[in-house]
Amino acid sequence: DPDLAADVLAGLRDIPDFPVNGVVFKDFTPVLLDHALRSRIIADVVDRRRGQVDVVAGIEARGFILGAVIAHELGVGFVPVRKEGKLPSAVHAQSYSLEYGTATLEIHQDAVSHGERVLVVDDVLATGGTLAATCELVERCGASVAAIELVLEIGPLEGRSKLTGYDVRSTVTI
Ligand code: PRP
Ligand code: MG
Repeated sequence: DPDLAADVLAGLRDIPDFPVNGVVFKDFTPVLLDHALRSRIIADVVDRRRGQVDVVAGIEARGFILGAVIAHELGVGFVPVRKEGKLPSAVHAQSYSLEYGTATLEIHQDAVSHGERVLVVDDVLATGGTLAATCELVERCGASVAAIELVLEIGPLEGRSKLTGYDVRSTVTI
């Protein structure tokens, strides 16, 4: 699908001064609304990863949207990686840095099994803290990160430098 990156880029909407003054937010909700474009994103990931993963982990909240559909299409289970305090059973927790302060993500300890190959899905790779924490959680369960799939990567924020050694793929890099 040679036009996919350009078409997704064209589908993103710039929102100035969100969430704070001076930041231009890349809004992917128009891409979600476009059934044909959304299907092409999913098909691209599924074609690349079919047969290579045992489970998909999606990161709350925006990683749930495409992650659950990708899991469905791959015919594998889906694991929610959630913000602190939301998961009811025993968890592993991992804190990570935000622009201001820290946040914590959690995974159910029994969500993935020892040795399983996990595909991690989120919408955006920015500074990389979210993805790095998620990979740590997957590995603390004894599973391995087979790959990371994103819709958008913001190159200048160098999130990729926190993910060395992982197979990281983004539909679009800006
Ligand atoms: C956003 C985005 C990624 C993360 C990327 O999520 O959806 O998950 O930030 O940032 P990073 O690479 O700098 O860690 P956010 O925490 O805003 O929450 P949401 O998905 O619940 O909207
Ligand atoms: Mg998010």
